[in-house]
Amino acid sequence: MSSDDPQAEIARLSAEIERHNRLYYDQAEPEISDAEYDVLFRQLEALESEYPLFADPNSPARRVGGRPSEGFVQVTHPIPMLSIDDLFELPTEELDRIEAKTGERPPKEQELVDFYHRLQKGLGADSIPVTIEPKIDGVAVSLVYRGGRLEYAATRGDGTRGDVITANVRTIKSIPLNLTDSAGVPETLEVRGEIFMPGEAFAKMNEERDEAGLPTFANPRNATAGALKMLDSREVATRPLDFIAHGLGLVEGGEIATITEFHALLDRVGIRKNEPLWRAGTLEEVLEAVRRLDRERHTLPYGTDGAVIKVIDRDAQQQLGFTSRAPRWAAAYKYPPEQKETILIDITVQVGRTGKLTPVAELAPVLVSGTTVRRATLHNESFILEKGIGIGDTVLVQKAGEIIPEIIKVVATKGGRTDFSMHAHLGGVCPVCSGPIERRETVSGTKSDARTVVTHFCVNFECPAQVASRMRQFVSRKALDIEGIGSTVAEKLVERGLIRSPLDLFEIPESTLASLNLGTGDSPRIFGEKNAAKIVQARERAVKEMPLARWLFAMGISQVGESSARELSRLHRNFRELSQSPVLAGLRTLKTGESKEKNVFLAPYQIASEVGPIVAASVLDFFQSPAGVAVLRRLAEFGIDPQSDNYAPNPSEDSADAGKPLAGKTFVITGTLSEPRDDIASRIHAAGGKVSGSVSKNTHYLLAGENAGSKLDKANALGVKILSEDELSTLLGG
Ligand code: IVH
Repeated sequence: MSSDDPQAEIARLSAEIERHNRLYYDQAEPEISDAEYDVLFRQLEALESEYPLFADPNSPARRVGGRPSEGFVQVTHPIPMLSIDDLFELPTEELDRIEAKTGERPPKEQELVDFYHRLQKGLGADSIPVTIEPKIDGVAVSLVYRGGRLEYAATRGDGTRGDVITANVRTIKSIPLNLTDSAGVPETLEVRGEIFMPGEAFAKMNEERDEAGLPTFANPRNATAGALKMLDSREVATRPLDFIAHGLGLVEGGEIATITEFHALLDRVGIRKNEPLWRAGTLEEVLEAVRRLDRERHTLPYGTDGAVIKVIDRDAQQQLGFTSRAPRWAAAYKYPPEQKETILIDITVQVGRTGKLTPVAELAPVLVSGTTVRRATLHNESFILEKGIGIGDTVLVQKAGEIIPEIIKVVATKGGRTDFSMHAHLGGVCPVCSGPIERRETVSGTKSDARTVVTHFCVNFECPAQVASRMRQFVSRKALDIEGIGSTVAEKLVERGLIRSPLDLFEIPESTLASLNLGTGDSPRIFGEKNAAKIVQARERAVKEMPLARWLFAMGISQVGESSARELSRLHRNFRELSQSPVLAGLRTLKTGESKEKNVFLAPYQIASEVGPIVAASVLDFFQSPAGVAVLRRLAEFGIDPQSDNYAPNPSEDSADAGKPLAGKTFVITGTLSEPRDDIASRIHAAGGKVSGSVSKNTHYLLAGENAGSKLDKANALGVKILSEDELSTLLGG
């Protein structure tokens, strides 16, 4: 996963997660498994905590689920229906890696161990009584009983408001509509649990649907969600749905002091509770229960990929409290994802934006964690050689860690094959343009764990595959924002030979654009005059208005993401300065670990971490390459000379910010604050300060809100001054 542009990556992940939320909650047609969703979610959370400035207060990571759908009346949950944090079992490969590096092998349940330690720390006790039970792979529902009668049933929705699905829920026979023995039952009782479709019933239903020519469901969860979204409850009644309770919501007019009392009540009124359930008072007992569930879980009527661990004592729960989306007193321990064997039929090669040639495994289709896998990236030649992968081999596939399926190892080889060589495989030429390919060696990893990676590149800068993806970046919203050119148009322009380099866009006559055929010869789809005019307008705007940073990002220079482009534009006025930059020349000679401040050349500048030796080398190399030289020449020919809109190479002395209260000061913001971070950041900017995503020795202040984590630790370790919001206000002049 690329995160050289964290802001773009956060935006991409947010959009992706929102899309999956809609598919899951609104359309009940998820495209990815829960495990894959979890991975996306975790990636977003990790990036947002690392780069809090780019985190949107409305980020999907800060809410529980999707929106309620239309067609049902909505209700506000008396107590929000929260999510639960995941703890992942560490895969063997990860354990091997840690052991090779540190000499110690952590238990595979390390995240669970850490969770239990957090409970101990949070409650200041050694023994924390908890329950362990299966996590039911179903659809969460809230059942509200008043006076012993089911008043309504609602879905989780966005955690705050859900759909009222009482009519559908009434069709589920295991849910009592009137509590049999309601003496001593609280006047209002909210029971929470999961609706699911038992595995066998699901299989039978799918078979029947298939025979009847109806579409089948990918898994029981989808089938359940689909059923509950139906507006005709008679239809719902035909689906084999079941319910199991796992939690207590609102209680009024009565008291339920412990989980034990709650379970006794469920038994008495005839609501099925979640089983098996273990109690544990020590970490060892927790681990034992979790391991035992792993052995037994396959015999349960519902699907489960994890164990839920909950603190028993309600007071202790309150003391531990909640994060914005989940309680701190509960967690879901996730067993590792499914691994399946399949045959590697072929290796094909994809050409990326920078010309990088990525080998891709073409696999015999195999069902892994709920979806069919047909392809998996093989990254580069080194990966293939290290794993000893060859065409015809039987390989082990899983979908964890990455959204993209991955090959873990070869389990059986055909034998007699020669070691894979990208060069030989491609006959020495690019599979798209037949141009020359180049072999490059890079060293990756840390100093103690360095390894050489061999990658191949198509070095034909005009390779259509490269041009098309470069074009997509060039016109994208964060680059030159040329409205009207989506990826289809970009590809067609390249395919029709109208564009060999993104700058060609500035030479295409409006009439040619207007008559562009986006379809085929047989069924043409003409771009049209209106659309062409839009593009012409947008490209004029790009020339007149777009600042250097945008143009720089648009160029698609390797290593230059959105934030490094901004930092480069802070250090340079225009492309000419950039192409002959003494700062970059100095930076490129910097050795890893060497400080910028100690370097005579660089001392006068204040350079953010976005630009280091690698970025510097890449930028200088680009402007010295034939392609870069051509770019500069053509920009001059067209009279395009974008200027920096944030030029301030030495903010403390000669910038427009000089004299402002926070000029030359760098801030990092962390923790929960009383207002959105973006707002705080704008005030700091307005006062001449800079805001950075990570704490380093160049950081002047850390603004720390509640629950500040690793950044606070790091700031303390580096002796960075810690500010409260009030202190910041004082600095800002009240
Ligand atoms: S207890 C405050 N126990 O998982 C959250 N939840 O991702 C406490 N779920 O919406 C939840 N099985 O609907 C709990 N045995 C179980 C569960 C369970 C499935 C669902 C639940 C929740 C979601 C959290």
